[in-house]
Amino acid sequence: MNIVDIILKKRNGGVLSEEEIQFFVRGVKDETIPKYQISALLMAIYFSGMNAQEVAVLTREMAMSGDRLSFPNLRHPIVDKHSSGGVGDKTSLVIAPIVAACGLPIAKLSGRGLGFTGGTIDKLESIPGFRTELTEEEFEKCVAQDGIAIIGQSADIAPVDKVLYGLRDVTGTVDSVPLIAASIMSKKLADGSDAIVLDVKYGSGAFMKTPEQAIHLAEVMVGIGNDNGKKTIALVTDMTQPLGSAVGNSLEVREAIDALHGNGPADFMAECLALASAMLVAGEKADTQEQARKMVEEAIASGAAFEKFKAMVRNQGGDVSYVEEPQKFEEAQLRLEATAPKGGMVASIDAEEIGKSSLLLGAGRRKTDDAIDFAVGLLIHKKVGDTVKKGDSLFTVYANDRAKGEEAVRLAQSAYGYSNSVIKKRHTPVYAVVSRDGVMLETPDA
Ligand code: URA
Repeated sequence: MNIVDIILKKRNGGVLSEEEIQFFVRGVKDETIPKYQISALLMAIYFSGMNAQEVAVLTREMAMSGDRLSFPNLRHPIVDKHSSGGVGDKTSLVIAPIVAACGLPIAKLSGRGLGFTGGTIDKLESIPGFRTELTEEEFEKCVAQDGIAIIGQSADIAPVDKVLYGLRDVTGTVDSVPLIAASIMSKKLADGSDAIVLDVKYGSGAFMKTPEQAIHLAEVMVGIGNDNGKKTIALVTDMTQPLGSAVGNSLEVREAIDALHGNGPADFMAECLALASAMLVAGEKADTQEQARKMVEEAIASGAAFEKFKAMVRNQGGDVSYVEEPQKFEEAQLRLEATAPKGGMVASIDAEEIGKSSLLLGAGRRKTDDAIDFAVGLLIHKKVGDTVKKGDSLFTVYANDRAKGEEAVRLAQSAYGYSNSVIKKRHTPVYAVVSRDGVMLETPDA
């Protein structure tokens, strides 16, 4: 078998056989296929797509490319959650401690930033000392002790995804249904969880731009999860504008800490509540969403969720004093305020452009080995549906380089659209719930 023939076949719209997909995945793993040919096949898949059978085989082979965790000594069920990626998406930092505080163990593998979206692991690493690489024994010990640990994808778990993830990030091949589905689900099949709640986002800040595309991605992933014996559901959620106010690593950690104290922005709190409740139901800690929601609210109000966050930070080597006194996080040297050029109602905020301005400031990577500047990013003050007067502050850019800061302001300013008519806000961030029984649309105005 020859990788060039496989690339040509996919480039020309062909369907890859099980053997061809195995040949590719094994060649990535043992490094016999060079990165330029891997990237070429990723681009061919991007343009030609894959059918359900191809995605299932790719996912399974990627999951089997490394260790498959199992936690015989831990309490089950273990429920995992994974987001398809968004701008300002720091939900894992909040819902993992909430769910752990409600008695459901969290043993979570998270990712780094991808494309214009941020990653939980980069955010956690902005806490001085926080170790996102633990051995399997350390990981299990943390979960056994406090019911919570979040680590990055180790070299041993779905190692082929690690290679593909890094290459997709820098070759324009991120927003592809088969590649996202195989990337997420290969890690979920290998991570020792029993049930999975997926957060599949749609909108300008997501890889899937429309709800229909996100529902399709959700259906593919829910199918893979359930076919592999894991109870899997997906919440299709709104990413038509940045989630919450903060975009950028330590700014987002600070917002997550606010949320754990019950003081996060309303849209972010609503999303955390919906996802954490879904996890409690999936993990059989609650019978209904309503019961789960009460448990979540109680975990926040009692401070139990915040205590779990602190326990996780302490167990993973992080300096807890930063969590207790978030003002200790190093601030960027420059703050640049952006004001509304005219009055009206904010009708749209292109979240991809906001994500790109954060990337431009240094909050993410352009090349796989780029270092991250944890302090830079944006704080958004006006969101869709807010009324602004000319000169009102729209957002603040936190920068360590004036030229980059000014460019980020220009880019993020252009992300705003205005209207003179009233813009209705949805009452829920959840657009639809996808389970093996089908798709249930949420009513926006209930
Ligand atoms: N998260 C992942 O783990 N992989 C993707 O491809 C997108 C989001």
